[in-house]
Amino acid sequence: MTAPGENRLSAIADDLATKGWSWQPGLLPETLTHALREELVARDAEADLEAAGIGREGEFQVDRSIRRTRITWFDGTTSAQKDFQIWSEGLRASLNRDLMLGLFDMEVCFAVYPPGGFYDRHLDSFAGARNRVISLVAYLNEDWDEARGGALAVWNEGASDEDAPVARIIPEPGGVMLMLSEAIPHAVEVTREKRLGLAGWWRVNQSGMDRIDPLS
Ligand code: OGA
Ligand code: MN
Repeated sequence: MTAPGENRLSAIADDLATKGWSWQPGLLPETLTHALREELVARDAEADLEAAGIGREGEFQVDRSIRRTRITWFDGTTSAQKDFQIWSEGLRASLNRDLMLGLFDMEVCFAVYPPGGFYDRHLDSFAGARNRVISLVAYLNEDWDEARGGALAVWNEGASDEDAPVARIIPEPGGVMLMLSEAIPHAVEVTREKRLGLAGWWRVNQSGMDRIDPLS
């Protein structure tokens, strides 16, 4: 598994420190993109994906006016998932070293946006819970272009509802987007074709008096 090179890693850390997000075309190795796509396509065919919800644990709801996606969580059992975990460890170690974030573990899910699928502007971390610190999105289609829709719109921290996005990312295969989960608003524009990807969130260790996070 080819780990991202040092130049790439320091560019990511610089981007996150200065603007809060970093778009990295082709960061995911091709073999890994391919293996993850195969798994996602197989799961999708088995309808092993559920309509995604929004909101905190316990207030979970499926709101189709905000989000139309199907997701399935990683359970770490397949070789593609294991390879992704090994690959993402390199990123985690580098971000912890350069930005002193104390990232601990990552939750990951596959996400399929069917034609007509979208996700309105949102933040990935729910207010108050410092559970998701860095978001990672990776794109798994075989190829993609602007005409298919499904661009990822990104705003700077603190942008108002009226502000235009600072970037519109075309979800090309192997591209990886990293964002500060609590700060960077983003949205998935309506897609015209089935859009394949994964989304992961690194969390900090929240072990405390009444809670011990497992070392998974
Ligand atoms: C998400 C998300 C963006 C994308 O899953 O929270 O914002 O481009 N995904 O798929
Ligand atoms: Mn998001």
